[in-house]
Amino acid sequence: MRVMVIDAARRRTTTRAMAAMDDARVRATAVVDAHVARGALTTDDARTLRETIALGQAHLIADWPAPGVDDERKRAFVEEVRRADRGYPGGVAKYVSNARELLRASKEGKNPFEGWTPSVPTGKTVEYGSAAHEILEKIGMRETAETCFVLVAGGLGERLGYSGIKVALPVERATNACYLELYVKNILAMEKRAEGAEGAKNAGGCGCFGGGGAKAKSSTKIPLAIMTSEDTHALTLDLLERNDYFGASRDQITLMKQEKVPCLMDNDARLAVKDDDPYKLALKPHGHGDVHSLLHTSGLLSKWMSQGKKWVVFFQDTNSLVFRVIPGALGVSKTMNLEFNSLCVPRKAKEAVGAISLLTHEDGRKMTINVEYNQLDPLLRATTNPEGDVNDATGFSPFPGNINQLIVSLPEYAKQLKKTGGAIEEFVNPKYKDETKTAFKSPTRLECMMQDYPKSLGSKAKVGFTVFANWIGYSPVKNSPADGLAKFKSNGPTHTATSGEFEFYESCANLLRLAGADVPAAAVDAEFNGMKLPMGPRVVLGPDVATSFDELKSKVGAVKLGAKSALVVEGSGVNLKNVEVDGALVIKACEGAEVIVDGLKVTNKGWQWKPTGKGAPEVDALAGFVVKKNETAEYVFDKPGKYTLP
Ligand code: UTP
Repeated sequence: MRVMVIDAARRRTTTRAMAAMDDARVRATAVVDAHVARGALTTDDARTLRETIALGQAHLIADWPAPGVDDERKRAFVEEVRRADRGYPGGVAKYVSNARELLRASKEGKNPFEGWTPSVPTGKTVEYGSAAHEILEKIGMRETAETCFVLVAGGLGERLGYSGIKVALPVERATNACYLELYVKNILAMEKRAEGAEGAKNAGGCGCFGGGGAKAKSSTKIPLAIMTSEDTHALTLDLLERNDYFGASRDQITLMKQEKVPCLMDNDARLAVKDDDPYKLALKPHGHGDVHSLLHTSGLLSKWMSQGKKWVVFFQDTNSLVFRVIPGALGVSKTMNLEFNSLCVPRKAKEAVGAISLLTHEDGRKMTINVEYNQLDPLLRATTNPEGDVNDATGFSPFPGNINQLIVSLPEYAKQLKKTGGAIEEFVNPKYKDETKTAFKSPTRLECMMQDYPKSLGSKAKVGFTVFANWIGYSPVKNSPADGLAKFKSNGPTHTATSGEFEFYESCANLLRLAGADVPAAAVDAEFNGMKLPMGPRVVLGPDVATSFDELKSKVGAVKLGAKSALVVEGSGVNLKNVEVDGALVIKACEGAEVIVDGLKVTNKGWQWKPTGKGAPEVDALAGFVVKKNETAEYVFDKPGKYTLP
């Protein structure tokens, strides 16, 4: 009986909603007709609007004032609808129909992993600096000439709360190099070695990777594509222009702008307008999954194929360490013949990091894919492990933690994208007002993620992973000081500008240690933005110093650093044979300058990292410190030649 009552009430509500929609449709159609009759809109504009009305979007137009009022803004609205239509494969019609389907599934609480059982996929865990790693790096370095890089940098960065773009933030204060500079210079450093190897091969040499010299020819030029969005495009372009593309040639870097998608007000996928402007659609980023369709439609993939490239490496806007692990991971892709390789770090159970999992369906299908951490636990409980997401005997989850730096094999990728156009399975994540799931707290939108690409592949696709330790492969800057502090208090990684800078120094310091240098361990003796994080000697090894561990080892001898020392080395020609630093030492060598540092002892007042006070500039406030350079021993070699120090 009660059920009947609810059903009747629901029916009444639905009937009322349909009547309101009909009414809106009639009014919106009349509005369009009146505007065309008065010449306020063209017949083309009217067609666009009628199509929009037919998609259940009459509410966008029904309440427009009479022709003559806001005509310019109305025409701009039509343009925006057309832009949204062009920006989405299949146009707004497809977007709305996809949205309705996903919103229905979300309302019904459908489990996206129904019928799938997770297990640990095949991949490789690599210990940085081990003999196995050195072999993989050698193999990977041979692949770099045939590698293309793609930086996804269209994100809003809401969690960080920085007013600029993330790639313009300094990685560290010792040199103040920003993320984009670091990335471009790493690519150029790899390119130089590839060119050197090519030159040595042509000259009948051994093809080892210490070479340098002339700019790479087009065959060995390593391209970089950057995905931007309306929020980041102009600032990214400006950063490149102001810095002469950080030494890269202009045709080497391609910017691809992703369009935003319309926000959705309700389960009928009615589009939302901005709070303060009824003539502007509310738009939000569609997610980094757009990168696949953009690479396809921009023609870049075909271009790279015709250049004989073999690999595409995807990376994110703030991970200063990623280039340290790329050669080894490329080696894994090559030796395991992987068409899709996810770079990973060891994952603690329940950590908020996606898990790379092999999913097997009841019907026999298989896929290796990222499972979000909040989905992994219920999935494991429902299938293989009643305890859910737990550590194994190693103290870590058996599932590797996805850091979303991806390596794909270009020929298979380009072929697949020809078939799919780069469309990636979408998802929707509405925040409902209550358990009836009929209204949202705020408009939502469809999103897609680049790591979901393997969902479009068949069961036989070779998809795997490569795990490196956190210290050498993963240090993102995502969180504001306040959010970072909360994470610090709950003993989680803070992923702030503060930790990002410290981890960069520590990673370089650890590389020196591994190469045999005497570098004291990091200590916790200072507090920035309320966080006490370990900090050791501040070491910066510039991108061109070495692109592989083998190369680094050949350039590091008896190096001894004091606990609070700073050491900055830039240039591929610097060889630290014997050097002791208690203070701050900077050595910069230009292209063609070979500098043997043998018997140099530096003692000075060095540099201090000092907490920022109130009213500090935004960039300093994010990190919580500024650097006071008291005294520096600085050696700059700006002309090619052979030098010794002291
Ligand atoms: P994040 O998950 O860090 O998202 O993106 P975000 O949008 O940058 O930051 P929040 O969530 O608002 O705090 C991971 C990577 O994907 C890129 C980001 O720029 C970052 O490199 N991204 C994200 C895009 O390129 N486009 C998008 O639509 C979203």
